[in-house]
Amino acid sequence: MQAFEFYSPTKIIFGPGTEQQVGAQAASFGAHRVLVVYGGQSAVKSGLLDRVLASLKDSGLTCETLGGVHPNPHLSLVREGLKKAQSFGADFLLAVGGGSVIDTAKAIADGAANPELDIWDDIWLKKAPLEKALPVGVVLTIPAAGSESSDSAVLTKDETLEKRGLGSSFHRPRFAIMNPELTFTLPPYQVSCGIVDIMMHTMDRYFNPITTNELTDEIAEGLLRTVIRSGRRALEHPGDYQAMSELMWAGSLSHNGLTGLGNQLDFAPHQLGHELSARFDAAHGATLAAMWGSWARYCLDTDPARFARFGVKVWGLEDKGDEKALALAAIQATEDYFSSIGMPTSISQIIGSVQPPEMLETLTRGCTFQGQRTIGSFRVLGHEDILAIYNLANH
Ligand code: NZQ
Ligand code: ZN
Repeated sequence: MQAFEFYSPTKIIFGPGTEQQVGAQAASFGAHRVLVVYGGQSAVKSGLLDRVLASLKDSGLTCETLGGVHPNPHLSLVREGLKKAQSFGADFLLAVGGGSVIDTAKAIADGAANPELDIWDDIWLKKAPLEKALPVGVVLTIPAAGSESSDSAVLTKDETLEKRGLGSSFHRPRFAIMNPELTFTLPPYQVSCGIVDIMMHTMDRYFNPITTNELTDEIAEGLLRTVIRSGRRALEHPGDYQAMSELMWAGSLSHNGLTGLGNQLDFAPHQLGHELSARFDAAHGATLAAMWGSWARYCLDTDPARFARFGVKVWGLEDKGDEKALALAAIQATEDYFSSIGMPTSISQIIGSVQPPEMLETLTRGCTFQGQRTIGSFRVLGHEDILAIYNLANH
């Protein structure tokens, strides 16, 4: 087990009706002036936003709102939010939504606490160390990105379509309110995107060079089996509280660090997917489903035993003594599951057409930050590898 630190301080408040506690929770973390961030329309239509604002007011807090966060959130709205946070004098950010809303709130929290730094050029590109941020709280409405307890946030710069993440312990929300009933209004496509993203946050830790962590591996495999089962159930029975509870809790555990403790992070499939969502505005989870099988086939020979174990422990496949065949069957089982829940397993299935070579080159250059980095740790991938994987997925 490689040395690690585990710091996951987010207070989880889980269960029906818990959003009624949001005012008291925010006050208990020192909030006075709260900027409430939300997305398109879902939180307005469901009445959740009104309930949240009422709870904040009942606790004596002053509120301002910032709506209109898009999936794959853009820097421009963060800049707008920063102006609002500063003129309002916000001392707390409350995100009501999913990963896109939470990440927007995290970025505003970073920028508002550091008015002398530019949120993109200085903070996001890590030219200046992030040494403080305003506190963030969350009312979660979709089990997916895990941002409600992760240390990361992901933004896209509007002009250049660069999609970049930033990790910082300041990005761990103070609290996350999780009422599975709030997810019942989700369209099935978003439920499926969430299932894939939750699985991938664990798989991008599981496929790594260290394979001697028994407890971490067993936690990862148990979480994956639960998500696969509960995901099917949630889609077959919309409004199933038990299934959505499992997904919601798994979403947080999958990305708070627990499922990879003592391992190295890989996250190459995430980087491959980010380029697709930045260029084509595709849903994050769907980009991961579109890329994973091609990544896996390309990397299979790096450690076939790992894929074989994944097949037995996660997919219940029988080990008949042919490791490579078992590994390939595990990859196929994963892709079949993605297809069965309406997720794409190729570039054309997500974007609508096969892409020309120039676009694959553009995606590859974006992925390497224009030649400045490699990605992954399970197998370290450079330009030629990444281009080959995009080619494999280009059907
Ligand atoms: O905008 P509204 O109207 O709310 O609709 C949203 C949005 O269209 C809808 N939705 C959310 N809750 C709903 C609902 N619709 C009906 N009922 C509800 N209860 O779902 C759509 C997707 O929302 P979004 O917030 O984009 O989803 P998700 O949680 O998947 O977040 C994706 C973003 O998070 C980033 C992704 O890259 C992407 O930008 N990630 C953030 C991470 C992190 N901070 O740790 C890690 C992830 O790997 C990921 O990269
Ligand atoms: Zn993700």
